[in-house]
Amino acid sequence: MAYNFDELIERRNTRSYKWDQVKTLFGDEDILPLWVADMDFYSPPAVRKVIQERAEIGIFGYSFRTPSYLESITNWFKRRHQWTIKSDWIVDVPSVVTTLSLSIDLFTEKGDSVVIQSPVYYPFYDVIKGNGRKIERNPLQMINGRYEMDFAHLETLFAAGAKMMLLCNPHNPGGRVWERETLERLAQLALQYNVIIVSDEIHCDLTFPEHPYTPFASLSEEVANITVTALAATKTFNLPGLHTSFAVISNPSMRAIFDQRVKVLSIHMASHFAQDAVQAAYNESEQWLEDMLVYVKGNMDYAVAYLAEHAPAIKPLLSEGTYLLWLDCRAISEEPAVLKELMHKKAKVAFNEGSMFGVEGAGWLRVNMACPRSILEQALKQFADAIKG
Ligand SMILES: Cc1ncc(COP(=O)(O)O)c(C=O)c1O
Repeated sequence: MAYNFDELIERRNTRSYKWDQVKTLFGDEDILPLWVADMDFYSPPAVRKVIQERAEIGIFGYSFRTPSYLESITNWFKRRHQWTIKSDWIVDVPSVVTTLSLSIDLFTEKGDSVVIQSPVYYPFYDVIKGNGRKIERNPLQMINGRYEMDFAHLETLFAAGAKMMLLCNPHNPGGRVWERETLERLAQLALQYNVIIVSDEIHCDLTFPEHPYTPFASLSEEVANITVTALAATKTFNLPGLHTSFAVISNPSMRAIFDQRVKVLSIHMASHFAQDAVQAAYNESEQWLEDMLVYVKGNMDYAVAYLAEHAPAIKPLLSEGTYLLWLDCRAISEEPAVLKELMHKKAKVAFNEGSMFGVEGAGWLRVNMACPRSILEQALKQFADAIKG
């Protein structure tokens, strides 16, 4: 492997949300943090190099978006995911959650119902509630150890007048990479009931062999026409602090509305660093991604084997994608407070407590596997020892 993902990089005192907030959030600065979804790995060398070069310019003035930036995106999705995106479908926004929130604001009315499939990434709740819309939950069903969509219930929500659905593809938490057939069934219902799909595909590059990602909007032109896809290079290449993402909207009237609001809010200007970083990521860092995925899969396998031996009451859900492992801890407790006490006070680790993803997540914990193996080993040992204790 050309990259050393075992390297321990000191992130404390770097204003890292993950590392430097543990005392504030979890009560003890010695807690090992494996929670918020960024990686404890250096970003790819090509990305670091262009950022250093941009920093050397020393004048951080306004910059603009170039055709080469757009090409790096369209080429990436064509090459890696066989999805043809036209450059003019791409609207830059600071973050994926911005796209979710703006889409709700622009394409639904106050009081409208927006569907989510819980348990799900917690800002999905915030953007619906914060925009004055109604959350309609279509809880995922656990079938043979995998999450599946409940199409019968979904249809009742669509038939009752839901205007939009926030899809998480691949799904966080649970690491479910939705198959083409599942997405086709969803698309059929959305078309039948005129429901707009806002598809958060930020984890799209983080899938394991045998679980290919299908872009929802790639299913057909008709499906693309009712879809806003929220994408970014930030999760894939560990750049979330650069705050850069893009929406892909092929429907011209929806795109015009979205684009106009982005300009009115004045959040359209390219950041000094972001464009070069995204280009270096998509054009020059594919091997880094391949190696990182192998390393993270190794971490996943290690964790599953370790827990089976040392904490057999904990049942991990096998991740098909994302670098997040979703642990069923219900045999220990379904009480969020009990699991928090176990993590923070006894084990001195911080995983994400599951009820933050919705009531269905109570009794579950989400562990971030994008860290050097030695950190994972230490965290799992502390966790298993605390359970035994
Ligand atoms: C599903 C999902 N969407 C969005 C985000 C955050 O994206 P951004 O920081 O671009 O808003 C995350 C981060 O973990 C995520 O898991």
